[in-house]
Amino acid sequence: MSDKEIIPYRPGLEGVTAGITAISDVIGAENRLIYRGYDIRDLAEHCEYEEVAYLILYGDLPTQSQLETFKAQLRASQQLPEAVYQTLKTLPREGNPMAALQVGVAALGMHDPKASDNSHDVNMQKAIRLIASMPTLVANSYRILQGQEPVSPHPDLDLAGNFLYILFDREPEPLHARLMNLTFILYAEHGYNASTFTARVIASTLGDIYSAVTGAIGALRGPLHGGANEAAMEAILEIGTPESAESWLMEKLAQKARIMGFGHREYKTGDVRAFILKQHVRELAEQVDRMDLYEIQETMERVMLREKNLYPNVDFPAAVVYYLMGIPIPLYTPIFAAARITGWTAHVVEQHDNNRLIRPRSDYNGARDRVFKPIRERG
Ligand SMILES: CC(C)(COP(=O)(O)OP(=O)(O)OC[C@H]1O[C@@H](n2cnc3c(N)ncnc32)[C@H](O)[C@@H]1OP(=O)(O)O)[C@@H](O)C(=O)NCCC(=O)NCCS
Repeated sequence: MSDKEIIPYRPGLEGVTAGITAISDVIGAENRLIYRGYDIRDLAEHCEYEEVAYLILYGDLPTQSQLETFKAQLRASQQLPEAVYQTLKTLPREGNPMAALQVGVAALGMHDPKASDNSHDVNMQKAIRLIASMPTLVANSYRILQGQEPVSPHPDLDLAGNFLYILFDREPEPLHARLMNLTFILYAEHGYNASTFTARVIASTLGDIYSAVTGAIGALRGPLHGGANEAAMEAILEIGTPESAESWLMEKLAQKARIMGFGHREYKTGDVRAFILKQHVRELAEQVDRMDLYEIQETMERVMLREKNLYPNVDFPAAVVYYLMGIPIPLYTPIFAAARITGWTAHVVEQHDNNRLIRPRSDYNGARDRVFKPIRERG
């Protein structure tokens, strides 16, 4: 590339096109999200997560028989090798669940003889394996960190239901299973976000799918990305009562604090996924008699809009949904990973199928032409 063709630096790569994808499109200006051409609103209303995972991975919605085959493949891959559990059992109890997830995914790769085969068909097999095993890994790695024994997946439950089943070692309530399924759909894919981009950068070196996913988990962990759902819930709990929500928020805003669960790089007039999920928070809050949490959320949304013109992103209602289901807060970001695995793996397949090394340049702003001194002359 000649100097004339160099594109000026944009902080955070905001507005920069960094690749081409047919998997999803975030149309922020219209508050829309499409997976493979289908509006997220339709998918959220009519589909189960497995159907959406098939769509994201294969490009088309499945027929009934394709879906049954896909589910059978998922069922066959849900359990983790015993050796992976043994590895997880060596980790410190106080360790971070996202780090445990990285260990688990790396270990899954080490026990896969085809880990380094990046051909399309083998990548698709590995993607299915990862989509199937991630909810098991998230729930069981957490159980192991808590000193509990892993639970085997239930053959009659879907992936989202199985996550709850393994975590609590009992069959989930229908409303909980349905809402977990919905959050899996909403979290499944989201264009060139930081973790997906990380996965694609790793894949572009011809790194394998397990390495790409391990890196993506690291990117997701930060509070500006997936970690926001945990931070949002901590804030809601710190607020405590609906009456203190406004003053708490005003104080934080006066301190120029960032309020987790609000704002988005792409959606400036609201995150469509938050709109979809929010409709269900009330039902759940009523069921468990925690309308106070619902009201805190409502007040925070009203004040953030009034003061900062910022809308909640998906992490805000997701945090409350998970809390109301009784899920421990350190699991919220790992759950995001259990669903986003679909998007990550589809992007790795797409990257490997039409690869070019991702290698941007940087503007150097350090010193130049310094006079070198041998070490003995440096004082
Ligand atoms: C997601 C996020 C990083 C996108 O930010 P961005 O597009 O880079 O926007 P900026 O960080 O440039 O913010 C623009 C302005 O809005 C403010 N802002 C953005 N999000 C804010 C938030 N959550 N709380 C308070 N102020 C916020 C910034 O302080 C900035 O104000 P300023 O111009 O007065 O300095 C940002 O909204 C954020 O940090 N949100 C909280 C974390 C979160 O929920 N992440 C999950 C995303 S799905």
